[in-house]
Amino acid sequence: MPAFMCPYGGCSMKLSPDLHTDLATGVVDRDIYTSEKIFALEKERIFTRTWNYACTTRDLKKPGDYFTVSIADQPVLVVRDNGGEIRAFHNACTHRGAILTGERCGNQGQVLKCMYHAWAFNLKGDLVGVPYEEGYGQDFDRGAHGLKPVHCDTFHDLVFVALRPRVPSLTDFLGEMTDYLAPYVQGIEPIGRNSWIYQGNWKFWHENFRDDYHAEFTHRSIRDLLAGTAARGWNWGAAPGHSVLQWAFPPLDPPKYARALQRFSGVDFSDGTMPVGWNSMLAQGPPGPPEGFEGAEPPEIRQEVLALFPNLDIQPGPKDTPRGMKAGYIQTVTPLGVDRARVDITVYSDIEDDEATRQELLENLADTQGSWGKLSCDDTEAATRCQIGVRGEGGRYNLFTRGVAPGRGGEGADVRDEYSQREFFRVYQQYLQDES
Ligand code: FES
Ligand SMILES: [Fe+2]
Repeated sequence: MPAFMCPYGGCSMKLSPDLHTDLATGVVDRDIYTSEKIFALEKERIFTRTWNYACTTRDLKKPGDYFTVSIADQPVLVVRDNGGEIRAFHNACTHRGAILTGERCGNQGQVLKCMYHAWAFNLKGDLVGVPYEEGYGQDFDRGAHGLKPVHCDTFHDLVFVALRPRVPSLTDFLGEMTDYLAPYVQGIEPIGRNSWIYQGNWKFWHENFRDDYHAEFTHRSIRDLLAGTAARGWNWGAAPGHSVLQWAFPPLDPPKYARALQRFSGVDFSDGTMPVGWNSMLAQGPPGPPEGFEGAEPPEIRQEVLALFPNLDIQPGPKDTPRGMKAGYIQTVTPLGVDRARVDITVYSDIEDDEATRQELLENLADTQGSWGKLSCDDTEAATRCQIGVRGEGGRYNLFTRGVAPGRGGEGADVRDEYSQREFFRVYQQYLQDES
């Protein structure tokens, strides 16, 4: 177990496993992004012991609707049974282990039938069909070969699963986020989905959604189109391990916006014609979309990112607007290797929205986030560059030390502070060091 002499605080402490800094200080050992040993521990001690977001309840509208996820490399299937209950199972046939479905989501009717030797399971996981069963002899017990259940719970419209029995209750796990999160995740419905893989550690992605230091620099589209973003805001590390960023967009200046668009695109918008979707930010905020940019006086817009340990973030629309509570993104990052991860984004809207509204929202929201989105492309490049850089000997630590007042931030903390990140690493370290 290495002894750690903090280069910033001068404290000395014993750390395990193989961490050279106290991550809760925000001085983060780069080994956590490159070490295969630490990556294995993350799967064993974090992802198997936490509640993991799987899908929304409206991904499972009718009996037989299922959704699949991978947690710590373990395939898991969530399904709604005939009584309306949502259940989760290991997505592995009890005969010889074949996954029962390789699809992300779908409906196979009343039974989940394995494609290999056709063993069949009902929606409660009971084994209900075994071809040529007599070959196993009289003592064969179907009851001993049901699908292995996985813990499953819901928080309003969100479905979570947990691999190990010894997890806190879901509301204890959500902790200080419970009440804050609740209004955002009621009455929402998925309207689109997008996934992609990048070459970088999973934490580089998740960190990015607890970080508002980068936005005006990494995202030129934000800097040029929404100059002054994050002029005001706050940063809160919500125990245990979660965070909220909130910041304000200044009112858009449509003529200035048009000039910036022209610079990007070369298209002349000076006649007042604007491209479809230009007002997507406005369309979500009060008092509704302006007819045209001429003379429009949009209000200041407040935006948030709610991040949940270990790998989920929710980006609802602008705060305190009926539209904002019910349109946005749910995003997870799934580790595929120490330097490879998959991002899954779900775009959601209000269950009351009609088809036309959903389509417009989907187009507007997918314009910024998603494998082709303006912002996601920038963030993917940042994560990839970080992974390449930390492989070398160019530095030992990554810094998350912005915001020097004690505590976990909150209102009054600058949005560019990093209480959000330190709260993540405080809890990350606790899980990693828990040998029980
Ligand atoms: S592996 Fe599923 S029936 Fe044989
Ligand atoms: Fe970003």
